[in-house]
Amino acid sequence: MPGGDRREFGKATVDVLDEDILFARIPGQFQGWMSHGDRVTELAPGFTQLARSGNIIAAAGDANRKIWGLQFHPEVIHTHYGKEILENFVTTACGCKRDWTMAAFIDSSVRAIGESVGSQTALCGLSGGVDSTVAALLVHRAIGDRLSCVFIDNGLLRKNEFDSVLANFREHLHLNVIGVDAKDRFLSRLKDVEDPERKRKIIGEEFIRVFEEQARKLGNSPFLVQGTLYPDVIESTSVRGPSAVIKSHHNVGGLPKDMEFKLIEPLRELFKDEVRKVGDELGMDAQFVYRHPFPGPGLAVRILGAVTEDRLALLREADAIVREEIENANLLRELWQAFAVLLPVRSVGVMGDDRTYENVAALRIVTSMDGMTADWAKIPHAVLERMSTRIVNEVRGINRVVYDITSKPPGTIEWE
Ligand code: XMP
Repeated sequence: MPGGDRREFGKATVDVLDEDILFARIPGQFQGWMSHGDRVTELAPGFTQLARSGNIIAAAGDANRKIWGLQFHPEVIHTHYGKEILENFVTTACGCKRDWTMAAFIDSSVRAIGESVGSQTALCGLSGGVDSTVAALLVHRAIGDRLSCVFIDNGLLRKNEFDSVLANFREHLHLNVIGVDAKDRFLSRLKDVEDPERKRKIIGEEFIRVFEEQARKLGNSPFLVQGTLYPDVIESTSVRGPSAVIKSHHNVGGLPKDMEFKLIEPLRELFKDEVRKVGDELGMDAQFVYRHPFPGPGLAVRILGAVTEDRLALLREADAIVREEIENANLLRELWQAFAVLLPVRSVGVMGDDRTYENVAALRIVTSMDGMTADWAKIPHAVLERMSTRIVNEVRGINRVVYDITSKPPGTIEWE
C-alpha cells in the first residue's frame, strides 16, 4: 500500500463489481466520500476486489473469512447508501439482531451511572448545548439531587447566552445549576495567545479549575459529567481503557493531567442525531434538542489571532445577526451550524464619502449529520445578502463579509 501519487478527498464515484453481501440491494454505481492519500495496489491472498473508484480499489473482501475493507467512508452522510452497506455488514455478515432502542439505551445508562456513582455526588459542566444537557438529564435520572450542575461564563459565549441559558435550565429542565462568572480569569489567561491549540488547552484547563473549586465548595464531588460524543472520541487521542479517566479531548479541548475528577461520559458512544433522539425521549423541549453545536472554547476559536474584549464584542454582534437571519428564514433545522468568524485581516471599503479600513468577517454555514464531515450550505442568496448588509451596516468595525465554500474534509468546520 504505497503512499500517494493518487490522493482522493471528497466525492468519488464508486462502481460495484460484486454485489454479494456488502453491496446487496445497492445500485451498481453510487457516490462515495473519500479521504485518503494512499492506495491499495495488491490484494492479500483470499481477497477479491468488490468495487472500484476509477482505477482505485474501493472495496475488497474475503467472504469465507468474513473480512471486508473499504477505501471510502460508509459512515458519512455524503456516501450514498453508506447506511445500507453498514446494515448489510452488521445484519447479514455479522448476524446481529436489531434490538437496540433509545429507551433501552436510557435504561442501561441510568443503571450504569447509578452503579458507578453509588451514594456519592457528581458535578456536571453544562455548556448550554444538547450534549451536556442530555448527559445531565441522564445522570439526574440516576442520582437525582446528588447531581449539581455548573454553567460557566468564560467570556467566550455568544450574545446574551449566559443569562438566557441559565434561565432555561432552571425553568424548563428543573436542574440544580450554579452560574459562575469566570470571564476575567479566562480572558486574562488568553491575553496575547494566538495559537489555536494553546487557546484550547488554556480554556480546557481553566474549565477544570473552576469545576474543581465548585466541587470543593459543594463538598468534593468525585465525578465530573461531560457530554462527550463518539466523534469527540474519534477526533481526539485516546479511546477506551484506563486513559478514558484522564485524557485530552475535543470536548473541552484538553483536560489537565492532574485533575481531581473521574469522568462520567454517558454519551461517548453516540452520534449527535442519536443524542437528539435521547433528548426527545427524555421529554426535552425542541429548543434544546435542536440547538446548533457550539464549541467548548467558544468564540475564542472563531477569532483568528489574539482574543480581546473588543474583538469579542465585534464577533458577538455579527454572530447574533447570522443567527437571527437563520431563524427568520426558518433554516435552523436543516443546518448543522451557522456562525461568523472574525479574520485577522483588514480590508478597504467605502461607506458614504468615507474610505474605511476595517475587519473582515467570514460566514461559516454548513450541513452535516455528525460534524465528522460537512458541506457548505447552499442557502438562498437573499439570506446571505441580508446577513452581509446587516453586518456591514450594524457592526461598526466590520466592512466586508465573505462566505466560506470549503467542505470538510479537507476544511474543518471551525476555522481554528
Ligand atoms: P471541526 O472544526 O473539528 O468541528 O470540523 C467539528 C465539530 O466540533 C465542534 N468543535 C469543538 N467542540 N470543543 C468542542 O466542544 C472544541 O475544541 C471543538 N472544536 C470544534 C465544532 O463546532 C463542530 O461542530
